[in-house]
Amino acid sequence: MNPRIAVVPGSFDPPTLGHLDVIRRAAALYDQLHVLVVHNPGKEAMLPIAQRLTLLEQSIAQAEITGDVVVASWSMGLLVDYATDVGAGVLVKGIRSQVDVAYETPMAIVNRHLAHVETVFLLPDPAHALVSSSLVRQVASLGGDVSPFVPEPVARFLDTGARDL
Ligand code: PNS
Repeated sequence: MNPRIAVVPGSFDPPTLGHLDVIRRAAALYDQLHVLVVHNPGKEAMLPIAQRLTLLEQSIAQAEITGDVVVASWSMGLLVDYATDVGAGVLVKGIRSQVDVAYETPMAIVNRHLAHVETVFLLPDPAHALVSSSLVRQVASLGGDVSPFVPEPVARFLDTGARDL
């Protein structure tokens, strides 16, 4: 396991400006970064996984995030199995509040037991502290403007392309 290779996992349904901020910070810290779309069985999805991958790729390119950034998806089992496959020694999670700490801590401990993978918590810009995918999903489904909260390709898609889903 290489401590210079990291995975940023999440549902990314849809990607938000908070996600992009964490991806930018992590890309600057690690030699290689895997942005991994993982199906979360505890959440009802809005977007198909293929669409989330496309939106992440477009958003990362438009934000000019540099470095070795791989966008992929994983539905074959444990997150740490993907990390082991690509040799990643680190999982990166964004922490907005104590609620996130409480949600992420048990997963971090379990993942360390499962595969000796460390979890690193990054603090996003406070400007994004209140943004969540679930709020964006709710506002978008009710016809509201989500452009202050998501990257431009996501806002464009939710405004137009999402009608065809
Ligand atoms: O963006 P989310 O929904 O908060 O991301 C949660 C996610 C997908 C990272 C988490 O549910 C996860 O790691 N799922 C993979 C399944 C797994 O490995 N579970 C055991 C360790 S927690």
